[in-house]
Amino acid sequence: MSEGTAASRGEPSASARGVFITFEGGDGSGKSTQASLLAQRLSQAGYPVLHTREPGGTDVGLEIRELVLHHRGDIVPRAEALLYAADRAHHIATVVRPAIDAGTIVVQDRYLDSSVAYQGVGRGLDAAEVRELSLWATERLLPDLTVLLDIDETDARARLDAARKGFDRLEAESSEFHAIVRTAFLALAEVERDRFFVVDAAAPAEHLAARIDERVSQLLARQGLVPDDGRPG
Ligand SMILES: Nc1ncnc2c1ncn2[C@@H]1O[C@H](COP(=O)(O)OP(=O)(O)OP(=O)(O)O)[C@@H](O)[C@H]1O
Ligand SMILES: [Mg+2]
Repeated sequence: MSEGTAASRGEPSASARGVFITFEGGDGSGKSTQASLLAQRLSQAGYPVLHTREPGGTDVGLEIRELVLHHRGDIVPRAEALLYAADRAHHIATVVRPAIDAGTIVVQDRYLDSSVAYQGVGRGLDAAEVRELSLWATERLLPDLTVLLDIDETDARARLDAARKGFDRLEAESSEFHAIVRTAFLALAEVERDRFFVVDAAAPAEHLAARIDERVSQLLARQGLVPDDGRPG
């Protein structure tokens, strides 16, 4: 048995651990909008916050993102799954895990559930295998909370059209593909009810932000996290 407390050994104590919150959902469901609003609110409340995303949360990840989202030409599903896993392995090891260990609230746009829904189910690879690949890549890091923004894929597509955003490799997939991905996300949420918070993403952004804030406040209270300046969150 090792001697001394975790703190005296230079390790973070259990209470110093931060929180890992991910946003999931189809393309155009509002993940980036809600992740930004949450990160802003937490940071204004005085919490240490890291707002990040996958793919592309590191320098290496930006190169992988470019490849996996914008490569012209085919990438076989297993290669696509491995590229996402490689991005994730580097991002979690060098950015996310150190931040959580330092007591930071990590707010992340997409994580392993996206791989399971898009590559595992959408691309027809085995969902359990793709999940296991991500868990291997991240030394089994699961979020404390995953907000699933659920919306009909045609409504989400209309939003992206209205924003006149160019489509990446995944966004350019058929409406059937996006419908399958949506169903896959909902099935994941059914299996892990404690981790997932499913919201109807067709609601106005401010309404969603308020619901998400409420859920996150419960989580922070449960984890005993208080803002740096001691003001209530
Ligand atoms: N609740 C909402 N109601 C209506 N429009 C919204 C809502 N949330 C976001 N939008 C708009 O929909 C578009 C897509 O939103 P956003 O970029 O946040 O989605 P996303 O899930 O991050 O998309 P992507 O998968 O392409 O990254 C944007 O133009 C955004 O302003
Ligand atoms: Mg986005």
